[in-house]
Amino acid sequence: MTEENVKSALSKVLYPGFTKDIVTFGFVNNIIIDANDVTFSVDITSSAPEVAKQISDDANQELKAIGAINVTCNIKAPKMPRESSSHGKNIAPQIKNFLMVSSGKGGVGKSTTSVNIAIALAAQGKKVGLLDADIYGPNIPRMMGIDDLKPEVNGNKVLPIKAYGIEVMSMGSLMEPGQSLIWRGAMIMKAIEQFLRDILWSELDVLVIDMPPGTGDAQLTLAQSVPVTVGLTVTTPQGVSLDDSRRSLDMFKKLNIPIAGIIENMSGFIAPDTGVEYDIFGKGTSQPMADEFKTKIIAEIPIEPSIRIGGDEGKPITFINPSSESAKRYMAAAASIWADIEEINANGGVDNAAVQPTTPPGVSACSTAAPKQAPKEKESCGTGGCGCH
Ligand SMILES: Nc1ncnc2c1ncn2[C@@H]1O[C@H](COP(=O)(O)OP(=O)(O)O)[C@@H](O)[C@H]1O
Ligand SMILES: [Mg+2]
Repeated sequence: MTEENVKSALSKVLYPGFTKDIVTFGFVNNIIIDANDVTFSVDITSSAPEVAKQISDDANQELKAIGAINVTCNIKAPKMPRESSSHGKNIAPQIKNFLMVSSGKGGVGKSTTSVNIAIALAAQGKKVGLLDADIYGPNIPRMMGIDDLKPEVNGNKVLPIKAYGIEVMSMGSLMEPGQSLIWRGAMIMKAIEQFLRDILWSELDVLVIDMPPGTGDAQLTLAQSVPVTVGLTVTTPQGVSLDDSRRSLDMFKKLNIPIAGIIENMSGFIAPDTGVEYDIFGKGTSQPMADEFKTKIIAEIPIEPSIRIGGDEGKPITFINPSSESAKRYMAAAASIWADIEEINANGGVDNAAVQPTTPPGVSACSTAAPKQAPKEKESCGTGGCGCH
């Protein structure tokens, strides 16, 4: 057997998906022939294991057809790209990172923050999705200007709606306008899972998730379904809001979700006519809470009429008026969040394998004490404040 015979046999091996063979591509090298044993290398450009396997199988077949006995095909493929270094359960593995946006109560600007941070991340070159997981008050479609649009259905999957360069999905886009649903524990879990599994999200760098207010089934289900890379808490500066926000930060701690920081929203007021900043609800009052949870305030967003108007009219300030003070602060906050995400991944990522409790399908996960008899029909978990009553 000669090198020419081997090359001619290998030139019958097409590169998977192409009409050219691996010899013509110039991928074959280091051919060593020892009597009827052949060893060679193939340098390929794809990291997909199925490509390597097909080349190896086809090469074996062609070489054996010309009398080779032992064939050793060393495939040199680039390493799989580091999707995310996270571990544990992930029902949406094409999404590299998950950012959970939380608040202790409603009305503090959680959706406004989610929208503007998502747009800021996209402006910084990331491939971004925005999931409105606030099934009680899905406001994202209006804020993103897509409240008239219905998503396309592809087989049994739903395509996210595109707006401002971001992929968006919301219960509001799936329901009739003004319709309301009463959510029980098991339904919440199912909805969150479907948002991750049955929506055709692309390969995203990050999915920003606007959670319902509080700490309950939705938060727990999310943390069990995907490894949440970082959590962000939105608060307003008043003492009563801070009390609730503390619970949101404590939840991140209990779920082992790294905290990317706090956004103090409605922090001061910028008068549209003069541009002068006034202190209304207080300002910087969340600093002691940030210290307590070893995190930082990553933005103080003032009350600006254009933020409210942007929300109501579906024209987010960070997109429409990027030179405004608030847009600049959202951009800085997004850069800080991304730096945290990169650092977390460089240090081994997050692991949600230990997020407890894990419950059988259809059973509410909101009770932290494992029930002796899992409630099947009645999802109420018997603890207050979990959102499943
Ligand atoms: N910094 C801000 N300046 C002015 N209006 C704001 C600001 N943040 C939020 N809003 C407005 O306050 C209302 C509540 O905000 P929203 O994001 O819906 O809160 P949440 O999602 O926490 O319930 C919305 O009308 C929004 O446009
Ligand atoms: Mg909201």
